[in-house]
Amino acid sequence: MGNNDAEQKVNILGLMTGSSADGLDLCLVSFAGRDRSPVYEVLHSQEVPYPKYLQDSFINPLELSDAEIAQLDGELGAWFAAEIAKLKLDFDFIASHGQTIKHEPPNFTLQIGNPAAMADTFNCPVIYDFRTADVEQGGQGAPLIPIVDQYLLQQDNSDVLALNIGGIANLTIVPGLHNSAPVLAWDTGPGNTLMDKAVRLFSQDRLSYDESGNLAAQGKLNLKLLDELLEHEFYQRNPPRSAGQEQFGKTYFQQILKQFYPASDEEFKDLIYTLTVLTAKTITGNINSLSTDYSPTSMYVGGGGAFNKTLMNLLRAELPSIDISEMNREGVNQSNKEAFGFAYLGYLFLSELTANLPGVTGAGKAVMLGKLCKPHRS
Ligand SMILES: Nc1ncnc2c1ncn2[C@@H]1O[C@H](COP(=O)(O)OP(=O)(O)O)[C@@H](O)[C@H]1O
Ligand SMILES: [Mg+2]
Repeated sequence: MGNNDAEQKVNILGLMTGSSADGLDLCLVSFAGRDRSPVYEVLHSQEVPYPKYLQDSFINPLELSDAEIAQLDGELGAWFAAEIAKLKLDFDFIASHGQTIKHEPPNFTLQIGNPAAMADTFNCPVIYDFRTADVEQGGQGAPLIPIVDQYLLQQDNSDVLALNIGGIANLTIVPGLHNSAPVLAWDTGPGNTLMDKAVRLFSQDRLSYDESGNLAAQGKLNLKLLDELLEHEFYQRNPPRSAGQEQFGKTYFQQILKQFYPASDEEFKDLIYTLTVLTAKTITGNINSLSTDYSPTSMYVGGGGAFNKTLMNLLRAELPSIDISEMNREGVNQSNKEAFGFAYLGYLFLSELTANLPGVTGAGKAVMLGKLCKPHRS
C-alpha cells in the first residue's frame, strides 16, 4: 500500500435521493487508498431540489403503476445526467442510490433512476442498485450507512451514536476500538415523513415541511394519540429492521387522521407537535434501552431533521447524558453525509470490498454491494 498514492486516487460522485422526495444530494469525494479506510477529501457538495413533477411523483411511490415506474426510471436518470452536467465537475465514477419506489425485504427492493444516461453523458461507469445484493442474502438491504458511520466516526476509547433523520430515522451505534461489541444499527421509525405529511395537509401543499419545527413549537401534546401511535408493531420488532412508505406512508397517515382529524389550526399544530414527539420518543427509547455493552456519550445527527429545533430540543431533553451535535467532520455534515456515504460505498465496490454489515441487515454473509453500468462505446 501507499507506494504510489497518485495512482490510487479516485474521484467518485455520490448521489442520494431519500424518501422525503425533496431532491438530489450530491457529494464529490476524492479517495486515496485501497483498504477500508482511505484518506478522503470532500471536493464539492450540493443539493438540487426536485422539480415539482418529480416531487409529486415520488411523495407517494406506492401509488405508482408499473408503467409510470418504468417511465420515471428513464426520466429520473436523464434528469440526474442533465443536472450533473450543469455543475461541470470532474469525476471518474458515479455512485447512485436512486429513488426508492418499493422496499419489501425479504422479497425485493427497488430504486429507480436509470444509470445509462449518466454513463453515456459523462462516459464514465455508474455504480448503482446498492441494496439488492444484501436482500438476495436474506438481509433487509438496509440500513447501508452504518459502515460509513464506522469509517467516519469510530473512536479509540469511546462508543459513538450516529443518527440520521430523513423521511425515516436510522440509528447507528459505533463501538470504540476498545469495545469488542459489534456495530449495531436499525431504523427507529418515522423521521420527518409523518410530520411532513401533516404540514402539507395543513398548508394545502404550500409548505412541504415544518421549518425549524416552528409549527410544532406552537402545538400541545395529544397524549392519547401519542400512546396509540406508539402501539405500532414496528416498534416492538427486534432488529434487523428497516422501514419505509410501506409502514409509515400515506395509508398509515390516513389511519392517523381517522384517530384524530384536526378541526382547527390549533389542532393541526397539536398534531404536528405530537408527530414530532413520536419521532423523538421512538429514537430516544431505543437509545435509553441500549445494551450495557455500549456506553455512548456523544451523538452526531444528520439528515434534514437536524434542522428541526423542536425535535432536537426533545432529543436533548430525553438524553441528558449524551452530548448531541450536528454531524460535522472534515467536510462531511448533516446535509451531505448520505451522498458522501454512497460515494464511499462506490469506493468499496471498486476496491472489491464487501459493504454490508450482516449483523445490521440480517444478511447471511457480507457481500459486495452495487452493480456496474458501463458507457456504450461509440
Ligand atoms: N430547515 C428545516 N427545518 C425543519 N425540517 C427540515 C429543514 N430542512 C429539511 N427538513 C426536513 O428534512 C427532510 C429532508 O431530509 P433529508 O435528509 O433530505 O431526507 P431524505 O433522505 O428522506 O430525503 C425534509 O422533508 C424536512 O422534513
Ligand atoms: Mg433528501
